[in-house]
Amino acid sequence: MSYNLLKGKKGIIFGALDANSIAWKTAERVHEEGGEFVLTNAPIAMRMGQINDLANKTNAQIIAADATSIDDLQNLVEKSMEILGGKIDFVLHSIGMSVNVRKGRAYTDQKYDWTQKGTDVSAMSFHKMMSVLYKNDAMNPWGSIVALTYMAAQRVFPDYNDMADNKAYLESIARSFGYFFGRDKNVRVNTISQSPTPTTAGQGVKGFDGFIAYAEKMSPLGNATALDCANYTVSLFSDLTKRVTMQNLFNDGGFSNMGVSEAVMDKFTE
Ligand SMILES: NC(=O)c1ccc[n+]([C@@H]2O[C@H](COP(=O)([O-])OP(=O)(O)OC[C@H]3O[C@@H](n4cnc5c(N)ncnc54)[C@H](O)[C@@H]3O)[C@@H](O)[C@H]2O)c1
Repeated sequence: MSYNLLKGKKGIIFGALDANSIAWKTAERVHEEGGEFVLTNAPIAMRMGQINDLANKTNAQIIAADATSIDDLQNLVEKSMEILGGKIDFVLHSIGMSVNVRKGRAYTDQKYDWTQKGTDVSAMSFHKMMSVLYKNDAMNPWGSIVALTYMAAQRVFPDYNDMADNKAYLESIARSFGYFFGRDKNVRVNTISQSPTPTTAGQGVKGFDGFIAYAEKMSPLGNATALDCANYTVSLFSDLTKRVTMQNLFNDGGFSNMGVSEAVMDKFTE
């Protein structure tokens, strides 16, 4: 169902890799709500080619950018404003990667150059992206910037490894930059803390199947899907949430406020 919530709004969506990606679902929903956007992903992700299908479906152009490169981000922001014919109203940062997770390295035995790479991709890229938008005065007043995070920033999920630290950093950047973006440009900055979701990044975490099944049993409303996350993001891009900023917002079916559920207790008393 469409409410035309984003009619006339223009944006940039980072991180649509395939049809499971949260950014993919978000692009589809933003398009349905009347928003126009540029799609971007790392040059290496372009090789898979699937993003072209999304671009065709949503009438979007694609600009490759490594989100850790200021030059790529500068080019992305300049070209996006040309393509969209003006300043930007919404941006989704939907990017995460840990080399330690990928290579099965324990949290207690990280390879620190891998840790640094993961921090750059997963968290510092959010600062770099906002810094380029801010310095180019590329955002329209009352624009909205959203990044995606996970509750391992607040609580321990052992297999989430160094991504937990990256997410804590990401959430802090949302608050700190949110202050300057709010004060100087009337732009809001928030993170959405999403339930475990079966995507390429999600399934890369060891023990993901247990993770997601446990969260499902703990959450009174069940896990939030990628589509639920897309819908929440649409609301944050819309004019209905103009003074929501510097928040970490849980989209998790209630998981984050649970101690234990009957469904989980039942498993232990079988
Ligand atoms: N899947 C989950 O369980 C879950 C839960 C909470 C939060 N999140 C977060 O949601 C976001 C999106 O992940 P997803 O689950 O849709 O997985 P995904 O694998 O579909 O998306 C991750 C994206 O990051 C992109 N990326 C990696 N390195 C990049 C770089 N250098 N420059 C630009 N882009 C780069 C990838 O190409 C990919 O498109 C991530 O921040 C992730 O941590 C995911």
